[in-house]
Amino acid sequence: MSSAALLTQTLTLPSTGVVLRNRLALAPMAGMTDVPFRTLAWSFGAGHMVSEMITSKPELWDTGKSRSRRVLIDSVTPQAVQIAGFDPEVMADSARRLVDDGVELIDINFGCPAKKVCRKAAGSALLSDIDQIQRIVSAVASAVDVPISIKTRTGLTLQDQAGTAAAVAAQNAGARLVVMHGRSRACRFKGSALPARLQKVTKQLSVPLLVNGDIVDAATARQALSASGAQGVMIGRAAMGQPWLFAELLGRPLPDFDQRLDVIYKHLQMMHTFYGSESGSRIARKHMQAYLQRWGANQLTAEFMPLSDGVAQCHWFEQQRQRLLDMAHGQQSQRKEQAAA
Ligand SMILES: Cc1cc2nc3c(=O)[nH]c(=O)nc-3n(C[C@H](O)[C@H](O)[C@H](O)COP(=O)(O)O)c2cc1C
Repeated sequence: MSSAALLTQTLTLPSTGVVLRNRLALAPMAGMTDVPFRTLAWSFGAGHMVSEMITSKPELWDTGKSRSRRVLIDSVTPQAVQIAGFDPEVMADSARRLVDDGVELIDINFGCPAKKVCRKAAGSALLSDIDQIQRIVSAVASAVDVPISIKTRTGLTLQDQAGTAAAVAAQNAGARLVVMHGRSRACRFKGSALPARLQKVTKQLSVPLLVNGDIVDAATARQALSASGAQGVMIGRAAMGQPWLFAELLGRPLPDFDQRLDVIYKHLQMMHTFYGSESGSRIARKHMQAYLQRWGANQLTAEFMPLSDGVAQCHWFEQQRQRLLDMAHGQQSQRKEQAAA
């Protein structure tokens, strides 16, 4: 079966009544996969998405960042939010509040290696305490009547299999979906993800597993699926600067260059609307950098960076439109000539 045929299939989360519309998920990436980006990813077919990580600490609940990360997107189902923390009761309280606000799936982060998270023994630091992982999942699963998922790594170090133990403990405590990044905590983002290291956990789980890490196209999706035995894939960095990647991996028609420029323009406008002109223009810089890099137009990034409000950014982009189109068509004909030679 082709990876598109497999990824297009729905995925049922056992004993929950929740069905993901396909097996191609967008990975949460703090500072990147916000409401505007997730809206685009969903429109191009992503079948599952969780919010950027929010802390379960009550004192940080009402910060602007936490509030904006809790905003739900009407058309998306299930509405999923990722929480991080170490205290089972505090995590359970956060989950209750989120579900009261309409959240339909709670994802728990046991994978983040960031010091900010790990200093408080949360994220991947909890891979050294599987009992605590079980207590957290159990407390959250008993507190709310929506599916719980976890996102984790293979272990603390390359050799260690704590990720497998964590996934099994989480399943036994009520988790209905596991996502595993094929790197260890110690690896952070170094080296290559090793999907084959998920084989053991795939065999031990009865709930579905999504494989994550370094999947960038149909070939790497196919390799990750066959090496891991996972039921679906989750894609993070490869979606930056090309939210239409989801359509490509599902075997759907891709937008042409003109339509892609429309998508980028719409993304800019969505960021300005969601965050306000000034903050939105700051967030827009990293996205525009990713778009321009993929477009082969890195040299234009320096022109965009100083623009500090929404109107200036939109105006600049409209002015570059023809230049970007010419570049894309030029590169396309060059590729065709090379292929024919
Ligand atoms: C900038 C950035 C922010 C991230 N933030 C989160 C996060 O909030 N929660 C989480 O579980 N993982 C987070 N991750 C990890 C990704 O979800 C994913 O596991 C990782 O990037 C590997 O997948 P990829 O190779 O497809 O990017 C983040 C990764 C990056 C690069």
